[in-house]
Amino acid sequence: MKKLIFLLSILFLIQCKKEKQPIKGVITDKAMVVCARQEASQIGINIMKKGGNAFDAMIATDLALAVSYPFAGNIGGGGFLVYRTKDGEVGALDYREKAPLAATRNMYVDEKGNVIENKSTLGTNAIGVPGTIAGLFKVHEKFGTIPFKELIQPAIDLAKKGVLVTKKQASSLKKYKKNFQKANKRIIFLDKVWNENDTIKYLKLAETLERIRDNGRDEFYKGKTADILVSYLQDLGGIITKEDLVKYQAKWRKPIVFNYKDAKIISMSPPSSGGICIAQILKSIEPYNISKYKHNSEKYVQLITEAARRAYADRSHFLGDNDFVHINIDSLISSEYLDQRMQSFSFNKANNSDEIGHGILGLKESNETTHYSIIDQFGNAVAVTTTLNSAYGSKVYVKEGGFFLNNEMDDFSIKPGFANSYGLVGAEANKIEPEKRMLSSMSPTIVEQNGKLKMVLGSPGGSTIITSVMQNILNVLEYNMGMQEAVSKPRFHHQWLPDNIKFEPSFDKTIFPKLEKIGYTIDQSNAPVIGKVDAILVLPNGKLEGGADPRGDDKAIGF
Ligand code: GLY
Repeated sequence: MKKLIFLLSILFLIQCKKEKQPIKGVITDKAMVVCARQEASQIGINIMKKGGNAFDAMIATDLALAVSYPFAGNIGGGGFLVYRTKDGEVGALDYREKAPLAATRNMYVDEKGNVIENKSTLGTNAIGVPGTIAGLFKVHEKFGTIPFKELIQPAIDLAKKGVLVTKKQASSLKKYKKNFQKANKRIIFLDKVWNENDTIKYLKLAETLERIRDNGRDEFYKGKTADILVSYLQDLGGIITKEDLVKYQAKWRKPIVFNYKDAKIISMSPPSSGGICIAQILKSIEPYNISKYKHNSEKYVQLITEAARRAYADRSHFLGDNDFVHINIDSLISSEYLDQRMQSFSFNKANNSDEIGHGILGLKESNETTHYSIIDQFGNAVAVTTTLNSAYGSKVYVKEGGFFLNNEMDDFSIKPGFANSYGLVGAEANKIEPEKRMLSSMSPTIVEQNGKLKMVLGSPGGSTIITSVMQNILNVLEYNMGMQEAVSKPRFHHQWLPDNIKFEPSFDKTIFPKLEKIGYTIDQSNAPVIGKVDAILVLPNGKLEGGADPRGDDKAIGF
């Protein structure tokens, strides 16, 4: 008996020790894709195995996500790419959606000035002119080494063969069924109740992708697909015209580049707020030597909350599409400016959002986006975040084309200066104007250290993208975590307004009373998940560690 107890105690001790080991992600030698669906990661990896680079893999992965992850993968939405080539050249591509020519500033308010419920989120009026196909062709033009036809073919094959429904997908299809009905005539997702392990074949989408394969970029913007899209929308009362599609162009942008201690961070520039906000938060906390505070302790949470409060207040006031509004980026991310912004911060007492920033403005965003990270065998790195905005976008599914359209118009300030239906308010810089791009939070990001590639990361999550990406940067740079460990850690979020800190349910609750005592409001009601980070870390020995977020069905694959 004594022996048995002794053995059990040893086993127990071994188990405890095991549990304390940091979680390790997939580790590979040279190349990796981490994204929201295994099928899409595998397709990206296959392209690199046959000699393609990270940009080729990006195109194949993106199109495979459009098939396998209709929740956010898309050809009816838009996105951003941040890249770093093997030679260290960095850049960014903006293929964000645009407001249609017929859009007006007050299109979502009635004659009494009230926001019309759901108009900017559900159905044809919510849709921005899509940018994804223009973006993928633009990338191919500059960096592609494999013919586009070969990059799109795996997505076509996947659409024809069909995609297995995961448990998470089955529950999300059930959840959104009513909205699919409201926004459409009958569509594939309403054909039956789709359960886990069913296979959905996307045959209309396969036909659309085949036309794009055969006719190129203009198929989507000027060809049969454009006709199908516009006539479906006009039948349903939408305002997007052929002219809107013909005029759409993806644009190369200069990314936001800044130093955080010994690291160089490269992230997305406007019309995303991501790069500027991450820079503001990290540069605001830089003087505090944050690693001396325990990870996720109350001091850590408090310092980041106060930096985030100020960054999101600035976001609301200053940021929009800089083809339309002037943004003084250098000043906004300068240490002098940010030190001065942090002067009113004290560990003894919470600040108050009414006293910080410009008025009481904020921006409404939704959570449903997708990010993927790729490193190839040559050393090129690609971070891409792409979105339909909400889950399945506007829920409008171009029936003959087989794809969802975004509801990105809701990322504009739908009623500048006044509270919208969600109790949030918008700002002048991000008001609706024809052909303007709506402000985003998407933050595809690359980190360098000592002149070498260190990390590729990004996240979905609307306004929580920024704080999710920023916390993962700190997890690695300040707390020496591996990639999977960093991605799996519980997260929190503050965005100025509403003036509360959201915590994931698994967060250590023992710090809450301490934070409440000095004036913070804790909100656990609406944050089962904050972000869904897919990332790759270059380990000191040159191998790659994937961080596939366990909050989703995400998967790292490499070789
Ligand atoms: N639609 C989410 C974002 O662009 O931030």
